[in-house]
Amino acid sequence: MPSSRISRSLPLEESLTHQPDDLSLAPGEITRLFVSLGLARPEEIPEVRPLTGGVSSSIARIEFASGTYCLKQALAQLRTAKVWKVPVERVFAEIDWLRTAGTIVPGHVPRVLGVDEATKSFVMEFLGDGYRNWKADLLSGTVDATLAAQVGDVLGRIHAGTAHDPQIAERFATDSNFHAIRLEPYLEETARVHPTLAPTLNKLVLRTQQTKIALVHGDLSPKNILIGPNGPVILDAECAWYGDPAFDLAFCLNHFLMKMAWLPGRRDALDAAYLAMVTSYCKRVDFEPITDLRERVSTLLPALALARVDGKSPAEYLDEPARLRVRKAALALLHKPRLPLEDIALLWFKELSA
Ligand SMILES: Nc1ncnc2c1ncn2[C@@H]1O[C@H](COP(=O)(O)OP(=O)(O)O)[C@@H](O)[C@H]1O
Ligand SMILES: [Mg+2]
Repeated sequence: MPSSRISRSLPLEESLTHQPDDLSLAPGEITRLFVSLGLARPEEIPEVRPLTGGVSSSIARIEFASGTYCLKQALAQLRTAKVWKVPVERVFAEIDWLRTAGTIVPGHVPRVLGVDEATKSFVMEFLGDGYRNWKADLLSGTVDATLAAQVGDVLGRIHAGTAHDPQIAERFATDSNFHAIRLEPYLEETARVHPTLAPTLNKLVLRTQQTKIALVHGDLSPKNILIGPNGPVILDAECAWYGDPAFDLAFCLNHFLMKMAWLPGRRDALDAAYLAMVTSYCKRVDFEPITDLRERVSTLLPALALARVDGKSPAEYLDEPARLRVRKAALALLHKPRLPLEDIALLWFKELSA
C-alpha cells in the first residue's frame, strides 16, 4: 500500500491521534499527496471541484495535467440531522472492498489508484463523462429493469465470490463499525421510536450480526451507483463488513419501495425493477440455501422501510404525507409473517394506497 510523505513525516503518536482536516480545501496538500503517488509534479496546482451527494466524506474531483481523479477522505462526523459519529478508519475497509470487488467484477467498481493513510484518504479513477447517478434517474421516474437486473447480478457475483472465505472474513471483521453505521442508526434507532416493535427489530439486529457468510457492501443504494457505458458501477463501500449478504439485497430493494411512495404512477416499472433485481441476484446464490436467504431479505425489508422514516437516515425526498404512508405500510408488513420475497413490492404498494 503506497503511503505518502505526509504519513511518513508524522511521529507515530501524532498520526494515531491526528484528526485529518478537509483535504479538498488544501490544494497544496493535495499536490503533495498526488506527487507521492506519482500522479503529479510538485509545481502543479490542481483544479479542485467538490462533489455533492455524500454525507460521510469529503469528496472532490481533482484535475492535474496527468488526468482527472476522485479524492475521497473520511469525515469524523456524518452530516446528518441526528448525531452520528463513526471512526475515520472505515476508509480502509472501503479501499479493501473496492480492491476486492474489483477483482471479481472488474469495471463495476472504480479503480483505486493510491492511498494516503495519514489523511485517511484515497484516490480513485474519476467516472465523469458518460456516467450518471442512478438515484437521479429513479427520482425523475426513469426506472430501468435491465439495469436493476445488472445490479442484482453484480451484487450476487460479489457475494458468491467472497462467500465462506476465512481470509476475507478476517480482513472485514468490521462488526463494531457495521453496528455503528448500519444496525444502530437504522434498526436500533427505529426500535427506540417504536418500543412495541423493539423485540422484533432487535431480533433482526442479532440475527444479522450472527450471520457471517459473505462480503457485504453495506450501503447499496441508488445514490451510490453510477450508470456507465458498461452498466452499473458501485461506489461508497465504507460500511463494508463480512456478514449477512441479505442485508445488501434488502437495503437496495428497499429503495424501490421508497420510490413507490414517492412516485405511485411508476408502480409497475418499480415492481418490474424490484423483481428483476431479485431474480438476477438469486441466480448467483450458490453459497447457501436460497430459501434461507430469501427469508432473511423478506424479514429485513419492512424493518428497513420503517427505518427510512424513523431511523437516523430518513429518506430526504419524502414529504410528510408520504412519510405517513410509508410508516403505515411498513407497520402493516411487519405484522404479516412469512412474506414471499417476490410479492413484497406489490403488497407494499397495496398498503401504501390503503
Ligand atoms: N469515482 C468517482 N467518479 C465520479 N464521481 C464519483 C466517484 N466517487 C463518488 N462520486 C460522486 O460523489 C458522490 C459521493 O461519493 P460517495 O463515495 O458516495 O461519498 P459518501 O461516502 O460521502 O456518500 C457520489 O454519489 C457520486 O455522485
Ligand atoms: Mg455515498
